[in-house]
Amino acid sequence: MSTYNEQARPRVTTSRIQAMKQSGEKIACITAYDYSMARLVDAAGIDLILVGDSAANVMMGYDTTLPITLDDMITFAKGTVRGVSSAMVIVDLPFGTYQGCPEEALHSAVRIMKETGAAGVKMEGGAEIAESVRRVLSAGIPVCAHLGLTPQSVNKFGGYGVRAKGDAEAQRLIDDALLLQELGCFAVVLEKIPQELAARVTETLAIPTIGIGAGSVTDGQILVLQDMLGMNPGFKPKFMRLFGQIGDAVASAVGNYVQEVKAVTFPSDTEHY
Ligand code: KIV
Repeated sequence: MSTYNEQARPRVTTSRIQAMKQSGEKIACITAYDYSMARLVDAAGIDLILVGDSAANVMMGYDTTLPITLDDMITFAKGTVRGVSSAMVIVDLPFGTYQGCPEEALHSAVRIMKETGAAGVKMEGGAEIAESVRRVLSAGIPVCAHLGLTPQSVNKFGGYGVRAKGDAEAQRLIDDALLLQELGCFAVVLEKIPQELAARVTETLAIPTIGIGAGSVTDGQILVLQDMLGMNPGFKPKFMRLFGQIGDAVASAVGNYVQEVKAVTFPSDTEHY
């Protein structure tokens, strides 16, 4: 029998996410990439789980998110969805699977929806991907937009610094956010932009904003699970808070196990058949 809280919360949908913006209840979002972690974060009451392409970094060890494939994302998403009973699960469309043409975007999004059972997708970019966003939305697939620091464009930006500090880029971001809302996106992630700009976007939009490194003013927050759990030693950007020290806990538990195996104190006399 499961030790988790199985008291069913109602399934979180796009309507619930929208209602949270209207009522002022903050939307708590997190990334997850596998069944075991998804079960834990869902039971902890998270509203939305993103199977992010940050899996390229924290699950596969790549320096950027560019190498992860659609098949990789589908594998991570399948396990995640199976672990969740209430949270809304959305999945990143990875680099190179939607920017080129709307038909490819639709094909990629449909594969994610059919093969994983997720409830929507996330796509990075503004006006330049409008046709792809429109095509995915036309199939009834919820799309979460992503503006500001969009890691799939790291080579264009030349790094992971704060975006939209200047007036021109800030105005472009507001225009993009309005366009994506008009197209029908259900939410927009704002990554690493000044809090003042995040506040302007959040006040301007009727759809929710989900911030990461955008201050407390957005309608919700998202963090990468491994980062906030202390499983990614050395990664400590200014916006990130450690909510746990799971990395240390794992190292200590496995260290103890190694010692006990070597000392033949595990298994004990009672730990066998
Ligand atoms: O891939 C990801 O984890 C993300 C979040 C950081 C928003 O896009």
